[in-house]
Amino acid sequence: MRRALLLIGLLAIVWIVIPGLPHEWGLRFGLLYRGFFSALLVAALLFYALLRRRPARGLPSPARALAGIVLVYLGTVGTLVAIGIVYPQFEVPRATRGQEEVARAEVRGKELFVALGCIGCHSVKTMGVRGGTRAPDLSGIGKRGATRIPGVPAQEYVREHIKRGSSPGYYMVPGYPPIMPPFGALLSQEKLNDLLAYLMAAREE
Ligand code: HEC
Repeated sequence: MRRALLLIGLLAIVWIVIPGLPHEWGLRFGLLYRGFFSALLVAALLFYALLRRRPARGLPSPARALAGIVLVYLGTVGTLVAIGIVYPQFEVPRATRGQEEVARAEVRGKELFVALGCIGCHSVKTMGVRGGTRAPDLSGIGKRGATRIPGVPAQEYVREHIKRGSSPGYYMVPGYPPIMPPFGALLSQEKLNDLLAYLMAAREE
């Protein structure tokens, strides 16, 4: 009876606790693994029950004992290897395609930030970019940008600022010289998007 309760408790861990673990831990066992764990638990308890029975009369001959040990060993290792081949890895959640694409756009954006010379005037400290100090540090621009022109979202504001540069017809950050050149004619839509992906990812200081 006690053993049955123990078995139920352990099975509950395998089937209820493990699947309920937080996603971020990356510990995910699929059906096959959980089935395997359950089988192991049942086998372990059966084995324990066997041990508790009174010893069998008459020991087997050494040759038979040895054969038994080898068989059990080969059986266990063989099963584990077979399972390993069929089901080679833990199910670690992978980055989705969308996330990979965003990460690639950010990398291209950073390259553009250097290649276009933004770095000559701007730093982005939270991205580890130590550039010029003649212009505002762009860390956190994804948030701050939304406060520049009422009603204009950060992304739109930054896109326009990059296109127009310091132009009297658009918002200019007070306290800085109006020296930013307009990049609108230099940048394709894709490049502009990459730059934006990079800048929007720069968190605040
Ligand atoms: C010659 C120097 C210079 C270069 C090169 C330059 N900028 Fe600027 N940038 C400035 C200055 C100065 C300001 C602040 C005055 C203003 O708003 O025009 C500014 C403002 C900005 C702002 C607004 C920041 C805020 O806090 O609102 C953004 C966004 C920006 N730049 C992005 C870029 C990007 C991206 C590049 C490269 C494609 C770039 N800048 C190249 C000088 C430069």
